[in-house]
Amino acid sequence: MQVNGTPLRTIWPVAGARAVDVIDQTALPHAFRVHRLHRLEDAAEAIRCMQVRGAPLIGVTAAYGLALALDRRADDEALLAAAHLLAATRPTAVNLRWALARMQSRLLPLPPAARADAAWLEAATIADDDVDQCRRIGAHGLQLLLAGRRGEARLEIMTHCNAGWLATVDHGTALAPVYAAFDAGIDVHVWVSETRPRNQGLLTAWELRQHGVPHTVIADNAAGLLLARGGIGAVIVGADRIAANGDVANKIGTCLKALAARAASVPFLVAAPRSTIDFACANGAAIPIEERAGDELRLLHGCDAAGVPGELRQLPATAAVANPAFDVTPASLVDRIISERGCCAADSLRALYPEQADD
Ligand code: MRU
Repeated sequence: MQVNGTPLRTIWPVAGARAVDVIDQTALPHAFRVHRLHRLEDAAEAIRCMQVRGAPLIGVTAAYGLALALDRRADDEALLAAAHLLAATRPTAVNLRWALARMQSRLLPLPPAARADAAWLEAATIADDDVDQCRRIGAHGLQLLLAGRRGEARLEIMTHCNAGWLATVDHGTALAPVYAAFDAGIDVHVWVSETRPRNQGLLTAWELRQHGVPHTVIADNAAGLLLARGGIGAVIVGADRIAANGDVANKIGTCLKALAARAASVPFLVAAPRSTIDFACANGAAIPIEERAGDELRLLHGCDAAGVPGELRQLPATAAVANPAFDVTPASLVDRIISERGCCAADSLRALYPEQADD
């Protein structure tokens, strides 16, 4: 992806220093800022407060967080404590635990003196793998979209939340096929739902604008009407965890879009890499759903007329609110899952990953 014409990833090790830079997503879309992580605690806090967010990016940040920790102390006790701290930052996206497990199985067999350097290398490999997998998701997803076209002049896509470049290291998951289409010269337009309360849809709009992809932001509640009117070729979303039976945990509001898409006979597609699939989780009921702070609903964030960022209270501090951050879309409402290996029916994940057959 490019920001103001400069190619960039969402996370990168700082040349010549034991530190990592990330794009501070809490400042977007109003300001573009880079935030430096020096210590394990910085990485944990960046994940917790959503300076980095999106399942694949959370996993990569955790991997670098472990590398930062091992620079200070690399014995078993320190490694396990650091992994424990990072794992506790956010509960739903399984990529976090996947990345930590991969780091631990690479590092624990090594003598402590060799672990820090190996951790930096492994974190960089996880980041590179994520880029490659997302690029493949883009290619497979584009093929699927083109196969489903019925002669429409324009490819009309609806998405929810941000499953784009910002949620990964590059390319994105749900948006990867959109970028692939745009880069191939295909006329594509994206309907972007706001995704209250954290408004990740505004991040989607920001990154689509950076890439020049035509898009329109809608209120979350407008999705049903637009789908029923016709003209939208597919809904594509990402995922934070896909259970073995194909149930999909994704940003709150996803399930309503899946229901509306099914009612309107619009294909509902989920794009995610292997690191998002939890074969140890039998079905969606077993996926932990993150409950976030009520102030995410009580306060609004934006800029005033002079462009100064600030917050507005829309509910008193004592107002009772519930803020589940994710929902589960049953596999029966998912038409296809798109991964780096190709596409499959939601209830046939093992066809893409036959090596998982015995889990
Ligand atoms: O709470 P967030 O912003 O970290 O939410 C995760 C997501 O970005 C989405 O649910 C996304 O659709 C899946 S991650 C590519």
